[in-house]
Amino acid sequence: MSADPPGWSPPADIAGSTAVVTGAAGGIGAAVVDRLLTDGATVIAVDVEPSGLEQLRARGASVIVADLSDPADRASVIERCAGAEFLVNAAGILFVQPLMTVGLEAWRRIWSVNVDSMFFLCQGIGAAMPAGGAIVNLSSTSAKLATTVDLAPYGMTKLAALGITRSFASELAPRRIRVNAICPGVIDTPMQDQVLEGIAGLRGITVEHLSTERLRMVPLGRAGSPEECAGLIRFLLGPESAYMTGQAINISGGLVTW
Ligand SMILES: NC(=O)c1ccc[n+]([C@@H]2O[C@H](COP(=O)([O-])OP(=O)(O)OC[C@H]3O[C@@H](n4cnc5c(N)ncnc54)[C@H](O)[C@@H]3O)[C@@H](O)[C@H]2O)c1
Repeated sequence: MSADPPGWSPPADIAGSTAVVTGAAGGIGAAVVDRLLTDGATVIAVDVEPSGLEQLRARGASVIVADLSDPADRASVIERCAGAEFLVNAAGILFVQPLMTVGLEAWRRIWSVNVDSMFFLCQGIGAAMPAGGAIVNLSSTSAKLATTVDLAPYGMTKLAALGITRSFASELAPRRIRVNAICPGVIDTPMQDQVLEGIAGLRGITVEHLSTERLRMVPLGRAGSPEECAGLIRFLLGPESAYMTGQAINISGGLVTW
């Protein structure tokens, strides 16, 4: 066994560390908060939605209500979370609309929530993150499959999430901080309900019919759970993935294989 190389730092342990989770009141974010609390982390849960955060506070998280599309709110979150070992960027929105009718306001809005928040939190919280820390960004299989055009701007923001992940992985590697992304497929959360209702409405079919059709495209034949995503995120934050950075890992039941 060779000696540790100069400048090597062991990955931080989850237990006893501080983790910041955005979009914490949502399906995947809340599952990540629960998983990290169970594993002994101090968790700062950030979301624009106060009522969902109250439930997380009751389960032991510290909470911050913030609109991460707003520069002043972001600056306050960055200041209050300085020194955290871990960051999970799960805040996100989506809208369903025919591509040829998307206007400037909706376009700017989705970029400000999904991309501005991820970029500036990687930058701001990453700047004060200690060696051995890690970041996980929520991308999507929509970054790789452009077949659902009624979600196209969302998919474009999730492709930007991969660029953010790769660039910060290179930037922060010398400080021994790792940055990875996950690309979930169909995961059973409120956001997925919004997708099904929106697209079924546009196509004039029922939600049940659309849901069956979509799951037919998934080799494992079912939707994933927020807890399964939380397990993958936990792996990417923890020491078992110490040699991984700049990666985009699918969790899609085989829907996407590249
Ligand atoms: N559910 C899926 O199938 C799926 C698939 C691929 C990727 N994702 C991604 O995973 C992440 C979590 O998705 P989810 O399914 O849990 O969605 P969700 O809608 O359940 O949760 C998203 C959370 O982000 C919060 N949020 C929205 N705008 C915000 C803002 N301006 N500031 C702070 N918080 C804000 C919402 O309040 C919500 O709690 C998202 O980035 C989403 O794009 C989800």
